[in-house]
Amino acid sequence: MGNSGRFITFEGIDGAGKSTHIDALAERLRQQGARVLVTREPGGTALAEKIRTLVLHDTMDVLCEALLVFAARRDHLVRLIEPALLRGEVVLCDRFTDSSFAYQGGGRGLDAGVLSVLEHWVQGGLSGPEGALRQPDLTLWFDLSPGAAARRLAGAREPDRFEAQDQGFFARVAQGFQARAMADPQRFCRVDAGRERQTVWADVEMALRSRGWLA
Ligand code: TYD
Repeated sequence: MGNSGRFITFEGIDGAGKSTHIDALAERLRQQGARVLVTREPGGTALAEKIRTLVLHDTMDVLCEALLVFAARRDHLVRLIEPALLRGEVVLCDRFTDSSFAYQGGGRGLDAGVLSVLEHWVQGGLSGPEGALRQPDLTLWFDLSPGAAARRLAGAREPDRFEAQDQGFFARVAQGFQARAMADPQRFCRVDAGRERQTVWADVEMALRSRGWLA
């Protein structure tokens, strides 16, 4: 789509360790003079953060949940992400639509066709040619087995509604990410998150370097 910025998303099941790498990458990109926006989903704008509180803490039907995360996403795209990309910034976003396919689709069983309609509504009608969807330029997928993720999360903090789910749920979420990665191998870069932090970071750097986005 018409922009000079770059849109990079970070995905994976809870406990995969993506957050520390987002901060490290932002730092690294700023060092080389890039303007970087770090943001997250659900959230990123005042309205979307309110929706986040609802989604993470209130019990609701899965379609309602999907409608809310996509409503939050629309506000986030229109007010924050799209303008930043048009200004030429690098946008690093902690989770995006792949999480909806993985959690609401894989984890909670919502029909992928419904999610696909929402994806087209919410990510369409922005800048760029008619009919084009705003998609990430790169998605770093931190892949970790549900068992390893559970061990990392144990005792770390009070779980939210998703983190409190059982391992079967996370296995389905992981399969959801896998399916999205297979459907769009150009956009996805799988990072084996089961290794030491420095090794994982080296892969993150390599993913950007190989695209010419990092010196
Ligand atoms: P997370 O990145 O885990 O936030 P934190 O590290 O602060 O806990 O995201 C919050 C949760 O939201 C996570 O469990 C996945 C869930 N989620 C969805 O279910 N659907 C979505 O579309 C998104 C973006 C997130």
